[in-house]
Amino acid sequence: MSLLITGGTGYIGSHTVVELLKQNQSVIIVDNLVNSSIKVLDRIQTITGKTVTFIKADICDAKAMDAIFNEHKISAVVHFAGLKAVGESNEIPLTYYHNNVSGTITLLQIMAKHHVKSLVFSSSATVYGEDNQSPLDESMPTSATNPYGMTKLMIENILFDLAKSDPQWSIVCLRYFNPIGAHESGLIGENPHGIPNNLLPYVAQVAIGRLEQLQVFGDDYDTHDGTGVRDYIHVVDLALGHVQALAKLPQLTGCHAINLGTGNGTSVLEIVEKFEEISGKHIAYTIVSRRAGDLASVYAKADLAKSLLNWQAQRDLHTMIADTWRWQSQNPKGY
Ligand code: NAD
Ligand code: UFG
Repeated sequence: MSLLITGGTGYIGSHTVVELLKQNQSVIIVDNLVNSSIKVLDRIQTITGKTVTFIKADICDAKAMDAIFNEHKISAVVHFAGLKAVGESNEIPLTYYHNNVSGTITLLQIMAKHHVKSLVFSSSATVYGEDNQSPLDESMPTSATNPYGMTKLMIENILFDLAKSDPQWSIVCLRYFNPIGAHESGLIGENPHGIPNNLLPYVAQVAIGRLEQLQVFGDDYDTHDGTGVRDYIHVVDLALGHVQALAKLPQLTGCHAINLGTGNGTSVLEIVEKFEEISGKHIAYTIVSRRAGDLASVYAKADLAKSLLNWQAQRDLHTMIADTWRWQSQNPKGY
């Protein structure tokens, strides 16, 4: 039996594949490479000494997905495939709804047809919307402020309805906080196309000299230094959260939403300071006005993952930034 990993050549997917291979799991990746590089596969092999089956296909392509389930014995699916840029989702909402929501429905229909009813889904802390106070816990009301967030919320709701309709499904929606860092080998990491939207890849590219200076989006938030506070989590810890979720799935019938965060908040300026200390590079920055849609402070209550999955983040901020810097300095132009 194999695990099917949609979006497995992407940032979080590739790190999860490494951890699954390390546990001797048989893994099949399906990815259309819209936001990832085929080179990831060689890097995964170098790290693990194991090969992984790769199928280039789109999750929206029912025929191709059906063929995968016909040809392979799949026990469970980890579903990372999706588009994830908040700003872009405002510009091309139909593309986001089609790719993320319709693509997931297609995947679920094919899974049901082949009686594969175990799923781990990549959700996001974005489903907490803007009305809840951190620490955010899973019982809080959900909402969305942009099409990307809405796709995550719609998919969660679809998954809750599906599990209600058929008790054979076991589903875990993992609500990620802010994944950063890279594998300790420096061989795989986050590889954004164009100018990064997220803080860490931006800071790393300033440090390496690809970008001139960071724009800090606002220093007048109600936080200890006025800049935005987030719950950064090492991508390998996140990957291990998926390993644990898969292990616990048989006992977790129904659909469960679970935070994957550290429970700690770090400000933008703290990140800049730590990055300078670890890389030995100066990070030039300028304070500009707030970015539309940003919140002051977002961090997790991380207790449910501990009790349901026996999982807790282990890697500290120093490791997260040191690993980000190793990846960036060894791969200054990405893959
Ligand atoms: P990523 O873009 O690196 O990985 C996603 C992968 O999915 C890519 O390899 C892409 O090529 C593939 N893909 C996209 N649409 C596809 C389709 N229709 N068919 C087949 N493959 C497709 O992103 P990531 O950071 O690894 O994120 C993985 C998942 O986690 C996404 O669903 C994302 O929304 C979610 N998530 C990410 C973050 C984050 O900050 N990185 C936070 C919360 C949730
Ligand atoms: N920031 C800057 N300058 C930048 C980029 C970011 O100051 O160039 C600040 C932001 O204002 C925020 C913090 O750095 O305070 C983190 O911003 P990111 O863009 O890295 O992360 P977000 O928390 O805004 O977004 C992340 C994911 C989204 C997800 C959201 C909610 O990238 O996909 O968390 O969970 F929707």
